[in-house]
Amino acid sequence: MTVMNVIYSRHSQGKVKSDPVPRELIEKLLSAAVQAPNHFKVRPWRFVVMTGKGRDAFGEAMAQAFRAKFPDVPDEAFAKERQKPLRAPVIIAVAVDKPTEHKIDEIENICAVAAACQNILLAANELGLGAIWRTGDTSRDPIIKNFFGFMPDQHLIGLLYIGYPDTESAAMVERPSFEDRTRWLE
Ligand SMILES: Cc1cc2nc3c(=O)[nH]c(=O)nc-3n(C[C@H](O)[C@H](O)[C@H](O)COP(=O)(O)O)c2cc1C
Repeated sequence: MTVMNVIYSRHSQGKVKSDPVPRELIEKLLSAAVQAPNHFKVRPWRFVVMTGKGRDAFGEAMAQAFRAKFPDVPDEAFAKERQKPLRAPVIIAVAVDKPTEHKIDEIENICAVAAACQNILLAANELGLGAIWRTGDTSRDPIIKNFFGFMPDQHLIGLLYIGYPDTESAAMVERPSFEDRTRWLE
């Protein structure tokens, strides 16, 4: 596929098959991620890759975080939370390093890591995988950040759920044009 084909044919796929993804393919995604531009070459990305039983511990952490927030909800709600990581055979948690020098701007680090996430989504598409970038309360929760070994003030900007596309996946929806979001100075 050309780059343009990969960009235009990518779309979020929340429903993927449970079939495992070979490690070699996951490593290709991570290698694509770290090709992203990053100011001062600080490599501000941190990845935690979860597969197989590695997802169970994440499910436990999600249930624990949920319990801390909503202690009175019925047990089924915790069980549902615990199951969430099983929605895909691979989950990559992506976080951003805090700047360690004055010249480094945290927003620039976040931009670089967001570019790395997009590289993963595009590479996944090229490699025949489906993926969705998820965040939500989970990604901001200090219990979850601690589970991954991140600091409470460190940004966990993505939980990328990846697997082989389910044939039932939703069809592509055409995007609104760039035109009403663009000014030309000529
Ligand atoms: C930073 C970020 C966070 C996102 N978080 C979620 C999420 O928590 N749940 C979800 O279903 N989709 C999430 N998405 C995916 C968007 O909903 C999706 O990209 C959007 O609907 C456009 O659809 P497309 O990716 O198929 O083009 C997120 C996307 C980004 C960039």
